[in-house]
Formats: sequence, C-alpha cells, structure tokens
Amino acid sequence: MKMETVHSEYENTVVLVTGGAGCIGSNLCSKIAELNAKKVIILDDLSAAYKWNIPKARNIIFVKGSILDDEMLRRVFKEIPDYVFHLAAHFANQNSVDNPEIDLMVNGMGTLKLLQYTQLVNVKRLVYASSGCGVYGLESRIPFEEHDISISLHTPYQVTKLLGELYTNYFYNLYDLPIVNARFFNVYGPGEVPGKYRNVIPNFFYWAMNGLELPITGDGAETRDWTYVEDIVNGLLEMGIKDEAIGEALNLGSGKEHRVIDLANLVNRLTSNDAGIKYIERRNWDVKHRLLSSIEKAKRLLNYKPEIEFKDGLKKVHEWFIENWENIKKTAEF
Ligand SMILES: NC(=O)c1ccc[n+]([C@@H]2O[C@H](COP(=O)([O-])OP(=O)(O)OC[C@H]3O[C@@H](n4cnc5c(N)ncnc54)[C@H](O)[C@@H]3O)[C@@H](O)[C@H]2O)c1
Repeated sequence: MKMETVHSEYENTVVLVTGGAGCIGSNLCSKIAELNAKKVIILDDLSAAYKWNIPKARNIIFVKGSILDDEMLRRVFKEIPDYVFHLAAHFANQNSVDNPEIDLMVNGMGTLKLLQYTQLVNVKRLVYASSGCGVYGLESRIPFEEHDISISLHTPYQVTKLLGELYTNYFYNLYDLPIVNARFFNVYGPGEVPGKYRNVIPNFFYWAMNGLELPITGDGAETRDWTYVEDIVNGLLEMGIKDEAIGEALNLGSGKEHRVIDLANLVNRLTSNDAGIKYIERRNWDVKHRLLSSIEKAKRLLNYKPEIEFKDGLKKVHEWFIENWENIKKTAEF
C-alpha cells in the first residue's frame, strides 16, 4: 500500500526542528512548511550547515543557536512546539574520532538538554534521529532488525547515537514523553553539501564534477543501504503522527544494498567524469562490510514504503549539484 502523503495533522501546528539547516533537516522543514504548519522553527548553530542552504518559506523561522545553550532553548520552547524533531548532531564517524569530546557534548549533553526542555511542554511527539550504522554491530544479523543492537561499537559517534536512544527511552519510561527513535541508514539527497566529514555520495559528486578520481576506502565491494531523503522525510512525518510508533525504535532505510564500486561508476557516468576510481586505505573504524536495514517494522507500524530508486535519486542529487554548483564550490571544505 502507498504511504499516506496528506499529513494534515501538521496543519497550523508549531514544529521545532533542531539541526533544521542540515541535509535531512532542510528537506524536512521545507516539507512541513508546505503542509501549512503555523511555524517551523529551526534551531541550528550552522556548525555544519550554510546560510544559503537554509530552507525559506513564510512559516519558517530560523534561530541561529546551539542545543547546548539554555537561552536559545528557552527562546524556542517559549513557542510551545507541538512536535519536536531532534536532528542536530555532531556528524559523523570520522569527525567523532577526530573530536570525541565535542561529539559527546553535542550528541550526549545536547540531547539530554533538549529532552529536558521538551518534557516541560506538552508535545505530541519527539522524534530522535538515531543511526543504523550507530546501533548495529558486527554481530548483528543482516538485514538489521531493531532488537538486534550492539554495545560493541567502533566510533564515538556510534556510542553517542546509541546514548541518545538510551536517553529518549529513559524519558519515555520515567515521564511518558512520547518519543520515537528513527534509525536512518545512509541518507542522501539534495541539500547535503560536500565536505571533509560528509557522506560518500556528495563527496563523489564533488570530486567527479572537478574531474578527479573517486577514492574508494576498501575494496569497493562493501555495500550500503542508501536511502533517499524524501523517503526519510515521509517516514519521519509518519513517526510524528502514528501512536503505534511511540516508545519504539524503527529503521528507516531503503531495504536494499548497493556496492560502493557501483556507486562510484554511476557517479562517474552521470557526470561524464573520465578520471575513474582509485583505491585508498580503509579507515580503521570502518569495519562493517555490509549495511542493510530490515524495514518490516516500519512498514507494519508506519505504512513506510521507500519509493525512490537509487539511480533516480542519484540523478536528482546531480541536478541539485548543477543548480547550486557556485555555492557548493565556494563553501565545500576539505
Ligand atoms: N545523513 C545520514 O546518513 C544519517 C544517518 C544516520 C543518522 N543521521 C542523523 O540524522 C541527523 C541529521 O543528519 P544530517 O545528515 O542532516 O546531518 P547534518 O550535519 O547535515 O545536520 C546536522 C545539523 O546539526 C547542526 N548542529 C550541529 N551541532 C549543533 C548544535 N550544537 N546546536 C544546533 N545545531 C547543531 C549542524 O549545523 C547541521 O546543520 C543527525 O542527528 C545524524 O546523526 C544521519
């Protein structure tokens, strides 16, 4: 069955999105604004996002500030949000290995603070952005099912993403806060600006459009469950309104896996890049050969159904790169 796409529940509501200037957040905010929310409040410190990429609409309010800053938190919670989507994070694995203390501050303390403020207002839902790559380990069975998590993880980011779930569960258990843990798998799409700590897809496009070889960290046979951001946004919107999701962790993936080498070849073909690929050393924390979600639970509880095929999603990313190339060239940092 096709997913519900109306989402009239968001009409005339106040929605707070932390990290709303980021890749997933900017897409989510644009969508909620289109659904005629009264206010979509973005709280983002722009530590990993750019002004030009902040979504704009009459009902979007951008507040530049950190989830660690009480004054900013008081300011946004004064608006009494009906829904909170907590997407702000120190992103991601390599960044956390290089900066483990900031990672713990933002993803750990920041999440705790956000939950404390959320608990003071009567929210319909708090949706927390967790990570499939974060919570499943080498011993988890593929495809990853929600109960099969690991406590033997490989980066501080994975540790703090899991920690976030432990905190949301604690607020659910002790205070009945209506939380949902959304476990994303390798999200990609328009809105993700390439950079040193960004995901492979925007970086491959950036290098390919600069005529460079695409570096593969490993043997290229590794697989990932790349999921188009619009499918993630639909899943998040469902998590906000389906009561069956309260207190649950749910995978949001594509339920399909693709090899890194095939991604590289597709990007080179789309961008007419003749430079090819090169193999470089695997990063020592990058130990998972395969990432693949089971999306059965999300299908059952949310009617979730990812719709964008990988090749089509990549074409959309390419179009977005072409449209925004000047800004991307100016801001991408490596
Ligand atoms: N993109 C993925 O593949 C993926 C996979 C699993 C989980 N996630 C999670 O989803 C969420 C969104 O991911 P994304 O890809 O959009 O990442 P992103 O880095 O584009 O977005 C995160 C946003 O948080 C902001 N931010 C960072 N520290 C902050 C702070 N202290 N206060 C306020 N804002 C702050 C950044 O400026 C950025 O705009 C994150 O929580 C991430 O851990 C993403």
